[in-house]
Amino acid sequence: MTVSIHPLTLARPGSRASLLALMAGLLAPAAFAAETAASGEQVYKQVCMACHATGVANAPKFGDRTAWTPLIKEGQEVLTAHAWVGVRAMPPKGGQADLPLDAFARATAYMARTAGGNWTDPDAAMLGRIRAEEAKRIAQMKATK
Ligand code: HEC
Repeated sequence: MTVSIHPLTLARPGSRASLLALMAGLLAPAAFAAETAASGEQVYKQVCMACHATGVANAPKFGDRTAWTPLIKEGQEVLTAHAWVGVRAMPPKGGQADLPLDAFARATAYMARTAGGNWTDPDAAMLGRIRAEEAKRIAQMKATK
């Protein structure tokens, strides 16, 4: 059995901490928050498929090895970060502003796998490397503006 202690019971009634805990609870739900655990395939179907199934605006098509092989060679952290930040007609986060990075990265790995890549769902270390590449990319984009 799990014993859960509600944050409110830890704070004196009416105190600032209890008010903040209450507000945090009220503000928490976001459209994609519940989807954080969504698989790469689920995210692909909900967000990425709209463009990647048919290759809208030259999006690399789902399962198209010729299109994906050079992209896969860029490496998981680099390609995921570049797509996440947005590249040409590819909108940042696939156009889904509240999509978490881990879900986006799983969808990218899923597409890479279906096109012959051996990418696994990212673990914490990989997510850290993707964040580092994201920072580099943003700095680069600012420098060339
Ligand atoms: C509105 C259409 C659209 C949606 C939705 C979309 N993409 Fe894309 N994506 C593109 C286009 C267009 C490109 C090609 C960009 C280019 O190279 O010019 C692309 C390219 C990419 C690339 C290759 C990036 C590179 O560096 O060449 C990856 C990876 C990618 N998308 C992942 C995703 C993922 C993951 C999702 C869903 C979470 C997604 N896309 C949703 C349009 C879309």
